Amino acid sequence: MVEKIKVKLGQGKDYDISVGSGIIKDINIIIQPLKLGDSIFIITDSKVAKLYLDKLVSILKKGNYKEIRTGIIPDGEKYKNFDSYKNLLGKLVEYNKKPNKIFIINLGGGVIGDLGGFVAHTFKRGTKYVQIPTTLLAFVDSGIGGKVGIDFNDTKNIVGGFCQPAVVIGDIDFLETLDKKEIQSALAEVVKYGVIHSEKLLNFLGENIEKVFNFDKDVLLKIVTESYKIKADIVRQDEFDTKGIRVSLNYGHTIGHAIEAASKYRYKHGQAVAVGILCANDIAVKLGLLKKEVADKIENIILKIGLPDKITGCNINNIMKHFWSDKKFITGKNRFVFIKDIGRVIIKEDIDEKLIREIIRKRISKNNLYK
Ligand SMILES: NC(=O)c1ccc[n+]([C@@H]2O[C@H](COP(=O)([O-])OP(=O)(O)OC[C@H]3O[C@@H](n4cnc5c(N)ncnc54)[C@H](O)[C@@H]3O)[C@@H](O)[C@H]2O)c1
Repeated sequence: MVEKIKVKLGQGKDYDISVGSGIIKDINIIIQPLKLGDSIFIITDSKVAKLYLDKLVSILKKGNYKEIRTGIIPDGEKYKNFDSYKNLLGKLVEYNKKPNKIFIINLGGGVIGDLGGFVAHTFKRGTKYVQIPTTLLAFVDSGIGGKVGIDFNDTKNIVGGFCQPAVVIGDIDFLETLDKKEIQSALAEVVKYGVIHSEKLLNFLGENIEKVFNFDKDVLLKIVTESYKIKADIVRQDEFDTKGIRVSLNYGHTIGHAIEAASKYRYKHGQAVAVGILCANDIAVKLGLLKKEVADKIENIILKIGLPDKITGCNINNIMKHFWSDKKFITGKNRFVFIKDIGRVIIKEDIDEKLIREIIRKRISKNNLYK
């Protein structure tokens, strides 16, 4: 069964997210009515290519396109860079010498979605692209919303833009080959959606964590679909992150990003965000905004997933250095997304640095709790 979620942006930018099990076999039926072009350029990474590229190409071949070419980059965040971008553009410029109308398919996780989306955004001042997420993070977070870009000179996502896909095709069968650590890390974002927007989703996740790790398709479909609906609704209201609505997606990320960077990315994004969520809640409890029992409930779910509640090997001064370079601090003051309760977000600025340091320090452990 296919579930369709509409991302409504207006100005001809609306697009569908199709979610289901085994739906990749229907890709031609999904994309051909969109008239994206007659020639395809698939962008993927080497690991995903080994697993799924042949299968995708053989299905696409039944769609009678003029030509299908591929751009494969090595897998990993360090390849979301200018060299990969240049390499892919080089291939596209060559491809473009033929009188074809090219569109792009991004097959992969968040790295491919961001990089391929940026290529699409800039090639010929905008080329249509199809997003096929293959990691849980790309399903629930990076695969939709249109934020595209690359890292540059060791700064994450510093070069980029907004460019919405023409369609997202989410076949959860891709997730079967994903490492447990990747699933675990992405679940931090699902916790985030649950906490900021849907107690139902949070409770469902809390009750079904084992089933997620056992690849129960019904449970995964529900989690992915609910997350999509929440993100789609937030993106619809604040596409360019300028109205103070999309910023709620930053819950747990203010300290999370600082931990991720201070650990030199030893912590996966979701692991750092998990600790960031706990720190944000600790601060909110200290400020009298949030009841301790609600913070405890969230902490229990994070622990049940197997995400860390403490960090190791990070120095507080280093974390604070990265904290202060947050792109979202617009007026020189820090800015946090807190919750007053589940589903009730509140943005606060200028939180006392002493308090922030005290809270983070309590979450730094000398034991190696997470390997
Ligand atoms: N644009 C956004 O809104 C947004 C939001 C959140 C994160 N991001 C970005 O997403 C990136 C992280 O994404 P990610 O966690 O998906 O990382 P990733 O794309 O590097 O994928 C993680 C690993 O899983 C492998 N992989 C992918 N699909 C697989 C599959 N089906 N089976 C087995 N292995 C598979 C990849 O080859 C890679 O080694 C970061 O660069 C981050 O900045 C973007």
